[in-house]
This record gives sequence, C-alpha cells and structure tokens, in this order.
Amino acid sequence: MKNSLLEKFANVFGDATNCEVYFAPGRVNLIGEHTDYNGGHVFPCALTIGTYAVARKREDHTLRFYSMNFENLGVIQSSIDNLTYKKEDDWTNYPKGVIWALQEKGYNVSNGMDILYFGNIPNGSGLSSSASIEVLTGFVLKQIFNFSYDMIENALIGQYAENKFIGVNCGIMDQFAIAMGKNDNAIFLDTADLSYEYAPVNLSDSKIVIMNTCKKRGLGDSKYNERRAECEEALAELQTVVDIKSLGELTEEQFEQYKDAIKSPIRIKRAKHAVYENQRTIKAVKALNAGNLEELGKLMIASHDSLRDDYEVTGIELDTLVAESLKQPGVIGARMTGAGFGGCAVSIVKTDAIDSFKENVGKAYLEKIGYPCEFYVVEIGNGPSLL
Ligand code: GLA
Repeated sequence: MKNSLLEKFANVFGDATNCEVYFAPGRVNLIGEHTDYNGGHVFPCALTIGTYAVARKREDHTLRFYSMNFENLGVIQSSIDNLTYKKEDDWTNYPKGVIWALQEKGYNVSNGMDILYFGNIPNGSGLSSSASIEVLTGFVLKQIFNFSYDMIENALIGQYAENKFIGVNCGIMDQFAIAMGKNDNAIFLDTADLSYEYAPVNLSDSKIVIMNTCKKRGLGDSKYNERRAECEEALAELQTVVDIKSLGELTEEQFEQYKDAIKSPIRIKRAKHAVYENQRTIKAVKALNAGNLEELGKLMIASHDSLRDDYEVTGIELDTLVAESLKQPGVIGARMTGAGFGGCAVSIVKTDAIDSFKENVGKAYLEKIGYPCEFYVVEIGNGPSLL
C-alpha cells in the first residue's frame, strides 16, 4: 500500500521526495446514537478501513490536494493565506477546513503542502469518511509542523472545522472515535466532559457485520440540524422545572417525572430518545464488560426501535436491513448506526452464520428496495498512524 501510494504521489506531483505516508481510520458506533450533542454517552470504535495520505511541506504558501477517489477532479489548489469554504473546491473543503481551524486556534501553519489522499471507506456510507479526512489532516500537520496538541485536541479541531467551516453541526463522537481508536476496543465516551474508557470487544464466536443501504444521501444534514434544535428546545422547557445542563443528566424515571414540561408531543419523543438511549448505552457497556452479549444485542434492538419510532431518523432502507437481519439465525443484535436517513446498520452475527446472513438479508433487501445493499465484516482498529 505504502509504495503504491508513493508511486501515485510521484505521478501526480512530479516526485515523492521528503514524503511521509499516514493513515486514519473510519468508525462505527455500536450504541449511543444522537446522544453526543445531548451530553450523553456513545460507544463507537475505529475500523481498520480508513483514509491514507501522502504529504510533504512546500517552500511557498500553496496547497495542492489530490484524491485517488475523485481522480476526475485532478489537483485542486488553494493557499494557506486565504482559506474560505468554496463549493467548487469540493472534497478539499475538509482538509482546508482543518488548516483553517488550526490557524483560528493560533497554530502557525507557515508553509503550503502537497497532499494525496486515498480512502477505502465506502463513500457516503456514514462510516465517517469526512471525519477520517479531518482527523488525518490534523495528524499530518501535527507531524509536519511539530504541533504540540494531543489526539483529543486533534479530534476537537476536526469537529471545529466541520461545525464552523463545513457548516454541519455534528457532535464530537466521530472525530473522537477516529482520533482515539484502539485495536479490539470500543470507546465508552461521556460527551458531557470527554472522559472515556476503553472496553475490550470480545465477541467470541461472532463478528461485527456492517450493512450499507447504499441509499444516495438526501436531506440528511438539514434533518440532523433539525433534530438537534428539537432537543435544545426540549431541554430549555425541562430546565423550567429541573436543574440540568443536558438531557444526558436525566435517568428514565426523572424524564417521566418532568416530561410534561415539554409542550409538544414530537419534542417529548425526541427528548425521550436522547435520555433512554443514553441509559441504554451505559447498560450496554456493562453487559459487554460482563460478557453478556445477549443483553447487548437486546439493547441494540431497542436502540433501533427508538431511533425509528421516537427519533424518526431511520427510513425504509435501514428498517428493512434491521428487520431482515433479526429474522436470521445467529444474529445477536442489529441497529442503524451514525446519523441515519440512509447510511449503514451494524449487526453482531455468529461467524458461521455470516454467509447465509449476507445471502438472505441481501436478497430480501433487493426485493423490497429495488437495488442491492453491501456487507462489510469489519475489525476494530487503531487511531491515526505514520506508516
Ligand atoms: C453523526 C454525527 C455525530 C453523531 C451521530 C449520531 O455521525 O457526526 O456527531 O451525532 O451522527 O449519533
């Protein structure tokens, strides 16, 4: 991989002198969905698939970007002197946003760079290819310019770029999972204060199988911001009767006690999801740590039900994948993962049942939806590295 990337870099930029090769993973969230902007817990893990970069410092202020995933776009050029979001700059707005965020935070990016990217996370799958590029870019600049930030700050810089440069109001989960990834471990993160613990994922005779709806992304981002606003409004209503800073502070019982303060049935459903999902996540980590996979599976299924009925972010494609999964033998649990509205679902399946699982779910999905889905049997990987 390293050599073929260096060769490609030399083809695109003339030669590959003074280059280093870097990697950052994608992520999948096991449970704790739409809780990260509500002060709740999440339980994601980094994957062994992700994004590669070959990069070197330039003498001038020019930035030259090239992606092997968008070869038709060629080299896209910018300058470190005047970084603004430009639609025509396409995917390079992600690395540009990170360099901009570093400048905003006072880091002296003194030179331009040539950077080539290659990603093997399926595009638009909701396995965080954009957060992977962001964290990777922060990591590359940290190495090239000897910046002192740690990997949590690297994650926060990526989120800042996404929020303020790209304009998507995401939480910290994706960037944190990628920056702090650890082989064979999921990360139990409290988004209220960024305290975290690693939890070994021992699935014994089972594996994580990701199912991609392959649905073209539509209104995702605007619906995402809408859900966020609904939760903020519900929180403000609850704050008139109980002293809390976020929905993540409430137990299920407290929510039931105070929920009448929320004046719309829709907002009650949204807030209910945020509160119950947070509690489910805490229970799921306990179950996994105790080796109780059956309980983990039940909580994953309950999570999907809540995302479908109360949070309303699933849709026919994700619901079909999950419903068909749960009909198969050897399935421990399944749910949508990530923002929703398409993207992927995650399941835990007994290893010897995976072949029939893929065949049966794939067939049922094609019949119902009219185009095929994809399956990825994944491993949990590490955070960013220099190769
Ligand atoms: C997206 C966002 C995350 C998180 C999830 C939903 O992946 O980027 O911050 O909110 O959706 O859990």
